Amino acid sequence: MFQAAAKTLSIASTSSVSRAILFSLRHYCKKTPTKLRVSEALSGAELGENVKVQGWVRSVRPQKANLFIHVNDGSSLQPLQIIAGSELNDPLLTFGSAIEVTGILKKSPHQKQPVELEADRVRVVGKCNPVDFPFKIKERHGLEYIRQFPHLRCRTNAFSSLLRIRSEATTAIHSYFKDNGFMQIHTPIITSNDCEGAGELFQVEPSGPAHEEDEHFFSVPAFLTVSGQLHLEVMSGAFSRVYTFGPTFRAENSQSRRHLAEFYMVEAEVSFTESLEDLTKVMEDMFRSATEHVLAHCAEDVDLFHKHVTPGHRVSPEGHLPNFNILNRSSQKFAFPTYWGCDLQTEHEKYLVKHCGNIPVFVTDYPYDLKPFYARDNQDHPEHTAAAVDLLVPGVGELCGGSLREERLDLLSARLQEYLDLRRFGSLPHGGFGLGFERYLQCILGVDNIKDVIPFPRFSHSCLL
Ligand code: 4AD
Repeated sequence: MFQAAAKTLSIASTSSVSRAILFSLRHYCKKTPTKLRVSEALSGAELGENVKVQGWVRSVRPQKANLFIHVNDGSSLQPLQIIAGSELNDPLLTFGSAIEVTGILKKSPHQKQPVELEADRVRVVGKCNPVDFPFKIKERHGLEYIRQFPHLRCRTNAFSSLLRIRSEATTAIHSYFKDNGFMQIHTPIITSNDCEGAGELFQVEPSGPAHEEDEHFFSVPAFLTVSGQLHLEVMSGAFSRVYTFGPTFRAENSQSRRHLAEFYMVEAEVSFTESLEDLTKVMEDMFRSATEHVLAHCAEDVDLFHKHVTPGHRVSPEGHLPNFNILNRSSQKFAFPTYWGCDLQTEHEKYLVKHCGNIPVFVTDYPYDLKPFYARDNQDHPEHTAAAVDLLVPGVGELCGGSLREERLDLLSARLQEYLDLRRFGSLPHGGFGLGFERYLQCILGVDNIKDVIPFPRFSHSCLL
């Protein structure tokens, strides 16, 4: 068509060149169908237009004169209905095949869909043998079943909904921080520090032979980051509100439903704060605003989860977030008995959340020895607590962990040499927290296993794709 346009121009007189260009372009545009995503087609904005849609077949229903095809391209949960004359049928047109359809978008006479595409051409781009395809037409497969096919599960309704929600929640979290004056910092993936001091580190070295003189590539042992906190703390010495949102790694030999070896963590650091409430306010506002955004932008996808994938689960961005210290007063019998100074086990976390009416709960002021070196000493002898806070949520347990940071040089001096330099030059009271993004998704969707809320889960003894 461009060639044809060029020919038209070459025979046109100089004065009519611009008119010829316009004419040719208009001619070209009219003949070429507009390429639309399924969600754009469903919006109805292009009714009456000649369009092209590409996607994967969700169902094919041949009838006497017509063929009904449902096609989806991942842009929405709802598929687009195609109506084609039966002469356009093709034996390769099966559930799962990739197709390209052109035709006119029309208002649908049926209430189920707002528009449908009256096809004049249906082309099978990639065939799919429905017998070998692990997902079957019209069958609802459980999350555990589809987890066996990490390379294909994005083609199921449940997992494509999850991925759309995950993407929107990511946008919402970035928007929350942008709207509230936080600066995004890209903290490093490779680092020499073990921020949490728990020793759950993956060491990083080149796969080839080591350099003769140096034992290590970076001169010192290097690891995949377990938290961007210390780098954020560096930045919080120059910017009063910073955050990072990236992959985080823990070499935990855990097969639990709440732990991954690679997960995404949202971390924030707030300068000039002396109160845990400043932190809990950020956590609560972020949780609320991200959840409101997801509910507003992915209503259909959330609905699918709440109706069919995790029936009975409901999420609300609302919730009262009180402080509690109630375990010792409970008459409940725990497998791990509670006493002052014990670490909270999952059963304790669950109890606390349930006790408060199954809503998110902040637990504050932990026994000092349970928290990492950076947590601020409350100096409240004899209890001796740290100004640390965890946010516990229904179904998941710990979603966020945070604290005021120990900014007093003398109190830190016995602890960590590098950390001390941050306190020598303009030290200020500050605090921060980290939120496990996968646990957040588990919480709002009611998903039991963390491996079902991340595109490609990494955990110990898993095979990698
Ligand atoms: O409580 P954590 O270990 O806190 C930190 O790493 C702090 N340095 C964060 C900070 O203050 N900047 O981890 C924070 C959150 C946990 O509450 C949990 O939601 C999540 O990260 N998390 C995991 N999520 C999935 N798999 C794992 N192995 C996780 N470990 C922690």
